Amino acid sequence: MMLHIPDVLSSTTLAQTRQVIASAAWTDGRITAGTQSEKTKNNLQIAAEAPASRAAGRIVLDGLADSALFFTAALPRHIFPPQFNCYRGATNVFGNHVDNAVRTDRATGKHLRTDLSATLFLSDPRDYDGGELVIEDHFGTQSVKLPAGDMILYPASSVHRVEPVTRGARVASFFWIESMVREDSQRQLLFDLDMSILGLRGSVGDTPEVVRLTGCYHNLLRMWADV
Ligand code: NI
Repeated sequence: MMLHIPDVLSSTTLAQTRQVIASAAWTDGRITAGTQSEKTKNNLQIAAEAPASRAAGRIVLDGLADSALFFTAALPRHIFPPQFNCYRGATNVFGNHVDNAVRTDRATGKHLRTDLSATLFLSDPRDYDGGELVIEDHFGTQSVKLPAGDMILYPASSVHRVEPVTRGARVASFFWIESMVREDSQRQLLFDLDMSILGLRGSVGDTPEVVRLTGCYHNLLRMWADV
């Protein structure tokens, strides 16, 4: 599943997030890289344990909690604490890699399986050149560059990269999601069913057939979800 989720942050919460991380210390992004990805990674990050990262992360989590589209697409079981990265100047690129399958939150020691990866764009795309998130999936290569406040959700199993930023700075939040539904194909089917039911409820109302379809959705979710 690859999905563009608009307006995870409003103009107000986007400004708050930018303000919180503006004074934070940026460090070498290889602190969260695996042994393969550290060879291709050259960007900046705020340390996960930094107060600014925690505070800005809470704003992002609040935005996600308000997004019905995020919930139905990701069916989140656990969300890894959001982190923040910056691509600029000589530290401007992250080559092809696959995200680690399991992440450990150092604050809690808790392990999380990365089913989905997310990038929430914090910079206005007019303020930088390059920096596209390029994702290779079954349907070919997708190049993603979104308005500030918008997010892309994509399979953590995909090969992806960030193209070099050749002007300005690209700041984003990135994190992973362990889903209640582990299989991407099952999650996609549930999402399509949910969106179709939503459309039908709008056009024909809660007819007996729509009620039964809604039951099918919940019974499939009951069959597949680990909570
Ligand atoms: Ni990655």
